[in-house]
Amino acid sequence: MTGNEIRKSFVDFFKSKEHKHFESASLIPDDKSLLLTVAGMVPFKPFFLGEKEAPFKRITTYQKCIRTNDLENVGRTPRHHTFFEMLGNFSFGDYFKKEAIEWSWEYITKVLKLEEDRLWVSVYKTDDEAYEIWNKEIGVPAERIVRLGEEDNWWAAGPVGSCGPCSEIYYDTQNMGKNNEEADRKPGDDGDRFLEIWNLVFTEWNRLEDGSLVPLPEKNIDTGAGLERIASVVQNKDNNFDTDLFTNITKGIKSVLEIQGNENEEAIKIIADHVRASVFLIGDGVLPSNEGRGYILRKIIRRAFGAGSAAKQKVFEKEDIFLYKLVPYVLETMNEAYPELAEKQEYIEKVIRLEEERFATTLKNGTEMLEEEIQKLKGENQKELPAELTFKLYDTFGFPFELTKLILENQGFEASEEEFEKKLAEQVQRSKDSRTTISDMIKDEFIDEFFEKHGKTEFTGYLQNYEEKSKLLHIAKSEGISGYEMIFDKTPFYAESGGQVADTGIITSGEFEGKVVNVVKKHDVFIHQVEIIRGIAPAVGVEVKMQIDVNRRKDIQRNHTATHILHKVLRENLGTHVEQSGSLVDDEKLRFDFSHYEAISPEMIEKIEKGVNDIILSNLQVKINYENIEDAKARGAMALFSDKYGDIVRVVEIDGYSIELCGGTHVKSTGEIGLFNIESENGIASGTRRITATTGHKSLNYVNRLEEKIKEISDIFRTDEKNVVDIIEKYIGDMRAAVKVHEEMQTKLVKYEINEMLENVETVNGVKVLKRSFVDKNVDELKEIVDRGKEKMQSGIVILGTNNNGKAVFVVGVTKDLISKVKAGEIVKVAAQVAGGNGGGRPDFAQAGGKNGSAVKEAVEKAFEFVTEKL
Ligand code: SER
Repeated sequence: MTGNEIRKSFVDFFKSKEHKHFESASLIPDDKSLLLTVAGMVPFKPFFLGEKEAPFKRITTYQKCIRTNDLENVGRTPRHHTFFEMLGNFSFGDYFKKEAIEWSWEYITKVLKLEEDRLWVSVYKTDDEAYEIWNKEIGVPAERIVRLGEEDNWWAAGPVGSCGPCSEIYYDTQNMGKNNEEADRKPGDDGDRFLEIWNLVFTEWNRLEDGSLVPLPEKNIDTGAGLERIASVVQNKDNNFDTDLFTNITKGIKSVLEIQGNENEEAIKIIADHVRASVFLIGDGVLPSNEGRGYILRKIIRRAFGAGSAAKQKVFEKEDIFLYKLVPYVLETMNEAYPELAEKQEYIEKVIRLEEERFATTLKNGTEMLEEEIQKLKGENQKELPAELTFKLYDTFGFPFELTKLILENQGFEASEEEFEKKLAEQVQRSKDSRTTISDMIKDEFIDEFFEKHGKTEFTGYLQNYEEKSKLLHIAKSEGISGYEMIFDKTPFYAESGGQVADTGIITSGEFEGKVVNVVKKHDVFIHQVEIIRGIAPAVGVEVKMQIDVNRRKDIQRNHTATHILHKVLRENLGTHVEQSGSLVDDEKLRFDFSHYEAISPEMIEKIEKGVNDIILSNLQVKINYENIEDAKARGAMALFSDKYGDIVRVVEIDGYSIELCGGTHVKSTGEIGLFNIESENGIASGTRRITATTGHKSLNYVNRLEEKIKEISDIFRTDEKNVVDIIEKYIGDMRAAVKVHEEMQTKLVKYEINEMLENVETVNGVKVLKRSFVDKNVDELKEIVDRGKEKMQSGIVILGTNNNGKAVFVVGVTKDLISKVKAGEIVKVAAQVAGGNGGGRPDFAQAGGKNGSAVKEAVEKAFEFVTEKL
């Protein structure tokens, strides 16, 4: 069976057991506590915890997953991966242990046709129920069932939350080890003989923060079987990388890197694993960066690049980049299961290529550092590069140890692999310690209690409903904020969410008037922050009139609908890799962050702006519907939040143009938005761009302000708006001409000054000597005087000094015929020394300085005396 056939057979098998097949969710989970989708159950977390009702009681998936906690081991073992696929079946309050066990056995023995004698199982040490099912009903002999403890047979997605005992199915590879040392081993013991191929979790507990276990409202099943492992067993390979899931990719690596034979096994595994992970991460919208998921992507691309470099025994440069060439091989293998990747091929290749190029530059810097260190070793007569440095090269520059070692050895130096491994192990431990785990949202006990008693706040503020008569259910004076926190039975005030800010407005009741300054939502309970304008705060039970600031709300709505249009226009113009990564919508502006790898040209910005305005001017209707997510997706809805699976979702549709899942408030038709104006476009992180824009009144204000400015400018130039540009251009032309005249005048002035000076030169032994001291004279001007003086005198000496802001500067010139008698360098030295400085220079021209500007006059005199003596 091929990998594709295994996936299909699994899904078909569970479909025949009345499971609904869900497509693989994104690798980016909609769960802030989790960086990546690490297991098949992640998209269903809310169903396990009972936070949401599952749309189907039985679901099956093959889920793309990434785990990076063992990154350093990938390539070194037959089974470690970052990217892998998990086959799973899930029951939400439906079947439990018996069916889960029976079906897993049926699939493995009847569909995959694995030999029963080679299958072992483990159960949690006290789980007699599972033990009995395996032993009595399935018929697995007691000697092939082991009872294991928490470490092996208790599965939890994190320290708190849903969890339960699990039961694992193992395949006996019959690999007894080199000296038969694994002959007596069992699952759970050390060694590679037993391969865990399927984990059945009986999720029935919720672990609370104090460590105690409480039963979940329903008993659930979560199973996970690694596709790569199953394939290795079915295809009879003792290495996951030898299965057909990898053969095509491996072939690609060998051909692209021109590697022959069976060498470089580790590098090939690293590259094969990492290129798969990179393709899928980029396909799901991740871009290389220095934090979070982007950092993981950067790290694996670089590690793969380094592995290629080490395999070829050459520090790869820009012209050696190769990873991006492997993308087609990955797609060929994965196309059947993930057809959506094909659309993004070009984009994925581009992102990988750019990162490779960037890294090639880094490697170059690393090589330089290594060269410096080698020089140091030479100087200190050392042979071995310390492990701190080999590790730094690895960690900072991505140099594989083998590559460092190779460069060192080529020059007669060495590095200790053992020490390097030690550093690496420390690093692995550090990253394990800081591993992200799923943790429940911080519990707000009060809100939970409140919710139990009153349920959620009814939001009546959609659909132009701006006023409400509501009953006050809770009021408290809270610390840290001014005024009161109030909760009502219903409210027209939108609470901050999905990037849209909260409404503000007024609450009145009899003599009381309060200003609502913010509204937040917790567990669908709306908490209003109210400042008192007059009267006394009302008591619980009182009816109040709530009115939102309608104009402000309308401005917010304009910006929100414009954001949807912008999102679509960006995708149309830049490509479908554009995905929203953040959004802020208030009454002043909209701010939209999205994935894109380069700055957008001014022409493109203009095109995007025009695209949005065209949709606005078409005055399309905005329709709000509640529908099943599958239907919405089928209609092309942009679904950003994967956990809305199967729920009834709110769909905002700009008629015939865009469909998005969204809880925000919107205009009725796009014409209401008015003028859309992009204020700025810039990068906020590697691979993430930000556009800010305005609509409606704000854009109008902007245009008005522009008009005022132009009028002001026109007034200054005493013209009208039509002619202002021509007039300014003329002014600039005139100004340039005036500057030129000024410069010419300046030159003439210097000449005149020099002439005047030359009339007053002294003669020493028949030689003309010009000496002068100035205050605040430009040094270039002094040089000019020296040059022209020498030219005019034909034979003579010029000694000049100036006191510029308390500092002395001297410039001296001697015509060539006199330098045998006295040199400019000597003269300037005498002057400079008087002013607390020193200096020298050429025989015919020299310049020097001194600290003491007030000594310039005296210095020039001393230099003159020196000249007199010499002549
Ligand atoms: N959640 C379990 C695991 O990841 C079973 O799917 O192993």
